[in-house]
Parts: sequence; C-alpha cells; structure tokens
Amino acid sequence: MTNPVSYETQGEIAVICIANPPVNAASQAVRAGLVEAFNRFDDGPAKIAVLYAAGRTFVAGADISEFGKPLKDPGLPSVIKHIEAQKKPVVCVIHGTALGGGLEIALGCHYRVMLRGARLGMPEVLLGILPGAGGTQRLPRLSGLLPAIDIITSARQVPAQEAMELGIVDALSDEEPLTAGLNLATELLVKAAGPRRVSEMPAPAVDQAAIDALRAKVAKANRGQIAQVTALDSAVQGTALPFDDALTNERRLFMTLYNSPQHAALVHAFFGERQVAQLPELKGVQPRPLAHVGVIGGGTMGGGIAVASLLNKLTVTLVERDQPAADKARAGIEKMLADSVKRGKLSAEKRDALLKDALTTATDYEALAKADVIIEAVFESMDVKKEVFGHIDRVAKPGAVLATNTSYLDVNEIAAATSRPADVLGLHFFSPAHVMKLLEIVEADKTAPEVLATGFALAKALKKVPVRAGVCDGFIGNRILKTYRTAADHMVLDGASPFQIDRALVNFGLAMGPYAVGDLAGIDIGYMTRQRLLPTKDPRERWGDWADKLYELGRLGRKTGRGYYIYDDQSPRGRPDPEVDEIIAEERARRGINVREFTDDEIVERYMAAMINESAKVVGEGIAARPLDVDMTLLFGYGFPRWRGGPLHYADQIGLDKVLATIRTAAQEDPYFWQPAPLLEQLVAEGRTFASLNGE
Ligand code: 3HC
Ligand code: NAI
Repeated sequence: MTNPVSYETQGEIAVICIANPPVNAASQAVRAGLVEAFNRFDDGPAKIAVLYAAGRTFVAGADISEFGKPLKDPGLPSVIKHIEAQKKPVVCVIHGTALGGGLEIALGCHYRVMLRGARLGMPEVLLGILPGAGGTQRLPRLSGLLPAIDIITSARQVPAQEAMELGIVDALSDEEPLTAGLNLATELLVKAAGPRRVSEMPAPAVDQAAIDALRAKVAKANRGQIAQVTALDSAVQGTALPFDDALTNERRLFMTLYNSPQHAALVHAFFGERQVAQLPELKGVQPRPLAHVGVIGGGTMGGGIAVASLLNKLTVTLVERDQPAADKARAGIEKMLADSVKRGKLSAEKRDALLKDALTTATDYEALAKADVIIEAVFESMDVKKEVFGHIDRVAKPGAVLATNTSYLDVNEIAAATSRPADVLGLHFFSPAHVMKLLEIVEADKTAPEVLATGFALAKALKKVPVRAGVCDGFIGNRILKTYRTAADHMVLDGASPFQIDRALVNFGLAMGPYAVGDLAGIDIGYMTRQRLLPTKDPRERWGDWADKLYELGRLGRKTGRGYYIYDDQSPRGRPDPEVDEIIAEERARRGINVREFTDDEIVERYMAAMINESAKVVGEGIAARPLDVDMTLLFGYGFPRWRGGPLHYADQIGLDKVLATIRTAAQEDPYFWQPAPLLEQLVAEGRTFASLNGE
C-alpha cells in the first residue's frame, strides 16, 4: 500500500502532505505516515515544516470506518504528541474543513494558517464521542474555555474569520494551501521563530457560575445524550490538572463514550444516511434531466415542494384549480421564502429573482408541457389523482418523470391512469416539505430504473435523504407509524393515558409523543384514515372509538385549540384535559375492559416492539430494501432519536429474542395485532441481527 503521507523539502522547508481521498481521514496509514514523516523532519536539515493536505479538504477527522474495531497503533493522541514535541517549528495549513481529529492535528502543530473559505470544528459529539486526541484541552487554551465548550458541544463549523478572532489560527490566506503554508513558514524563518506548543500555554480561566449555567443548558438541549456534557466535563476538569494528566482524563472519558451504545448508534446513522442514497441496482443508471419541476396543487405540500425546488436552483411551474387557488399558492410560497430571508438563509434580492424568474403559477395543465419532473400534490383521493394523471399524460413531454406525493394510495393504480406507467413513481415528501429531510421514493411495478434514478437525483438536488420504498398502504414510514400508533391506542384503552404515553416516549428520546404529533397534524387525518380503512377492517381488529369521538366533538388538535390536549395561553404546548379522560373512561366501561396500570418502561417496550415488528415485516416483504432504509426513514421523517440509531438498530442493541418475547407475551391478549414478523422469527432462530442484512 502506498504511503498516504509524503515528505519532500523545498530549500530549508520540509513539506509534508496528507493525501487520503476523499476527505483525508486520519486512518491508521495516515497516522503511521505522519510519525515517519516527522521522524525524517527531526533527523533532517530542514528548519521548519509545513503540514498540509491534498484535494478538497484538510483532515476531516478520525477514520470513522475504523470505529467499532480495536484501535490500531499508532493512536492519534500519540501522533499529535509527537508532532507537538518537534524541536523545530511546524506550520499547519487548514483548507476545506478541519474537523475532529483533523483539527486536533492542527492544534498539535505550532502555527496555523487558514484559507479564508475554510471552516473548522469538533463534530465528535454528533458521533456520540468527544474530541479524544487533546481537543478538549488544546482548544480552550487558544480560544478560552466558554468559546471552546460552545464549539465542542454544538459541533458547529467555525468560519475562518471567527477562528482568527478566537485565536485558534494565526493567519488567514487567500492563496492555495501549499503557498499559504510556505509563505507563513518563510516569515517565521525570517523571524527565527521557535516551536510554540499549545500544551505549554497556561490553562484557561474558569468562571464556575458561567460553566454551571452552560452545563445545565447543554444537558437540556441534548436531552438523553451523554457525549455533550461529558465533553464539557473533560474541558473543565482538565483546567485543574497538569497537561498530561488532563489528556489521560480526556482519554478515559473518551473511551467511556467510545464503548457506549449511543456512539454505535450515531456511527450507524452517519453511514446509513450516506448508504441509503446508494441503491446497488441503480449503479451506472443515468437519471433523466430534472432542471424544471412541475407541481400540481399548491396546498401545504405542493407549496413546500415548490419552495424546496426554488431554494435549490430548480425552475418551478405550479398548476392550481383556479385563479384564486393559484394566487393563494403563490402567496404561501412568498411567505415561506420571506421566512428564509428572515432567517438569513436567502437574500431579499435572490428571493425577488426567484419569484420573478424561476416560479410560474398557472391554472392550465398546458403550462407543464416543458417540465422534466411533474409532482402531483392534490387532495388524497384516488378519483381526483386518476383524473389529474390523465391530464398530465396528455400534456407532459415524452420522457418526463411523473410523480405522486400520495401518502397512502396505490401508485400502481395511479400509474395505470396514464399511457406511460414506466415513467411514474411516488415521491413522498414530508411536511413541511422544504424543511423535512426525508423523501420516500416509491417504486411501482412498472417504474423504469432511470425514473427511479431520477427520483434519487432529485433528492440529492433538494438535499434530502432518499429512501426507496415499495408499494403498500403507507409505504415504509406511514405504515409503521400506523402500527405503533395503534399499539399506543390499545394501551390507552387498557389503562394508560395519552399524556403518560407521550411522557414515556419523550423520555425515551422521541422528539414528540404520538398524541402531541396527532394534535399537530390534526385529528381529522387519523379519522379520515380510519374511515378509509373501515370497509376492509378485519373483525378481529381491536379499534377504539374514543379518538373518533374527539373528532366528532370538533377537537381537531392544535388548530382548534383542543385535541388530545388543551392549547391556550396558559399551556401553548398543551396540557391534559379531564374531558378526554372521561371519554376514554366511558369507552373502557362500555367495553368492560379490566383497566390496569402501565409503567413507563412497559409503554416504551410495547411501543418499540410494535414499531420493530412492523419494520421487520416491511423489510421481509421487500417494501424497504434493507433494515437501514427503515432506520433512516424513522430518523429523518418521524423524529426518532438519532442517538438510538433507528428502530432496527435499537432492536439489535436490546436483543431480538427479547423483542420477540415481548411480542409473544402481548399476543396472548391480542393475537391478531401481535402477529410476529416472519423475518424477526427467522433472525432469532438463526441467532442473527438486522445489521447482518445491511451488509455490515
Ligand atoms: N472517516 C471515514 N470516512 C469519511 C469521513 C471520516 N471521518 N468523513 C467522510 N467520510 C466519507 C463519507 O462516508 C463519504 O464516503 P462515500 O463517498 O463512500 O459515501 C465520503 O467520505 C465523502 O463524504 P460526504 O459525502 O459526507 O462529503 P461532503 O463533502 O458532503 O462532506 C465532510 C465532507 C464535511 C468532511 C463530511 O463528510 C463530514 O462531516 N464528515 C465527518 C467528520 C467527522 O465527524 N469527523 C470527526 C471524526 S471523530 C474524530 O475525529 C475523533 C477524534 O477526536 C479522536
Ligand atoms: P392541501 O389540501 O393542503 O392541498 C391540496 C391542493 O391541491 C389544494 O390547494 C387544491 O386546490 C389543489 N388541487 C386539488 N385538485 C386539484 C386539481 N385537480 N388540479 C390542481 N390543483 C388541485 O393538501 P396537502 O396536505 O398539501 O396534501 C396533498 C397531497 O400530499 C395528498 O396526497 C396528501 O396525502 C399528501 N401528503 C400530505 C402530507 C401532509 O402532511 N399534509 C404529507 C405527505 C404527503
């Protein structure tokens, strides 16, 4: 294997270059190469060294693909110690992004020059660990304790100007990386500057009251997670210790996090987010053009899809039913873009240009004749959708990709309403469509591979996380949602309250509990779904009426101020309502249910068992390609905590036999609902995990 670290001299300057594409991760070969290069520098005649990286970025951190395996020597802390201990000065050039272990390498060097467009940061907490190669000790010595803790616990990327102001780097440059390094090295040679080791700088001052307040804030903002507060503790504790002891303490805390389930889950999420966009069967398949997006229906979803497209440099033509509806859609889009301007994401000039040049609203389908991709987002009714697709078929140019944003309906049936079903697929966006990262790409029976590939290319253009789904009621996400929501409803019938269920699940880490979500989305949505499914309802299916009662009382959720909870000035986020408890109690009495108590743990166990079981069915039936596709769906569309990795990663962590046992116990009460997924039974019988199906 070639050495990814090269060494050469230019006059009195040693030039050490890291070349480990794509992001120069500090793999074992890079670490060994650095030790060797600095040994040569130490032994040789060069008076100063410049360390830089080739390609698009400086080192983006430790090599994450080595995580989960035994750490190989030389370890990054010892490599950095070796660099810092050099007797002759070392200059580091930061371009692209210096992240995590990459920034720690830079901090081990004696001087730092940063290109103006570059950024630096410590994203370790996003992987459930802390900067474990001196980052929690060296960064505070340069920037001060509070700014360092902010950078480490927020994982934000710091722009060059700010890095300079904080004293993290010594100079900014507009040159190419190597030139920038040689210039600073030459200046230092003229000044006869010696090494300047961060470890020898004084420890930063500690304002205990400010630290206490910050610790409380960090803990609250990262509820359930351990990495952020542990990183803070490492930085603070280090200030009271000799530097080497502080590093030992940092390493100890790092190893605790490294061996935690949260770290494993976050690494799974990191790679899953990337892997999910790469479907093996689409390798080499060319997508069709997608520069011009047509949208039909400019309501909640159509408007959001139009905004997502506009913000990502696509041209949009939106068709509505009549002029007032088209005007309303345009006004909605204007408002969303105005919010982007307010949040500093878009300039006012750019917004004006987008509205004038990139957006057309119309009432005539002919306006879609030039669109590359047409996305239908009209009412959720098969008849309306079929009629709309008949119109699209008439006007769309040959080769245009025709998509439906349906939440539940059969994409095969919709495709059959056209003369070109191979061009049809589902593009299931999530609300608000310009914010939510998930995009389910639904492959129907006749969808052509290039059409599916165009769906993935569109997701990339819109910066979404795409997940391929097969056709079934609710695809991946909404189908699983329906099941775990039903499990929650059953627990309410049997004795838990909606409030208790939400509380238990929020404590587990969900962004919101199912009933708070229900109030946000509108109770009418669940009601309509139940009405749609009523004709095909199995007589064995257990179905509560209490939520329908709420609908009948006009308690539609947040929009009416009342739903599962009451919303008013006193409790804008909702509080339990005795009227709801009464409605539930009446139904329990009517059905003669033996009410029992549920502990919060039991609630989580049942809810997760239902989620995992349906997820396993979705994978077993091929609706999701791999377990990781389900995990990413729940993480990016349903507020599942990233630090738990997704339901199937979580299932592996707690043990599939345990999940199956929960399902079998529950099946004694309700064998219809709790039918174990054949795939889950098979994995348990074979002693395998879901991860084994991801190719991990
Ligand atoms: N290790 C291994 N592979 C990495 C990597 C890393 N640190 N960072 C990125 N990659 C891989 C990606 O998996 C991807 O591979 P693929 O093409 O096969 O899918 C490829 O590099 C390109 O990555 P992106 O698609 O993410 O490229 P972008 O240009 O969008 O982003 C980036 C580049 C900003 C560097 C982004 O990849 C990133 O944020 N990486 C993670 C950085 C990180 O978390 N570093 C900290 C590591 S932990 C650490 O350093 C511990 C230390 O304190 C001891
Ligand atoms: P909405 O009711 O807000 O908007 C629908 C729009 O379509 C209305 O503005 C209506 O005037 C327009 N429309 C109806 N028939 C039309 C026709 N023949 N030609 C042109 N325009 C027509 O509905 P929403 O919420 O935007 O939903 C749209 C679709 O997206 C549905 O299929 C829904 O299931 C799906 N969806 C909704 C999500 C949500 O959270 N609201 C999430 C994901 C998908």
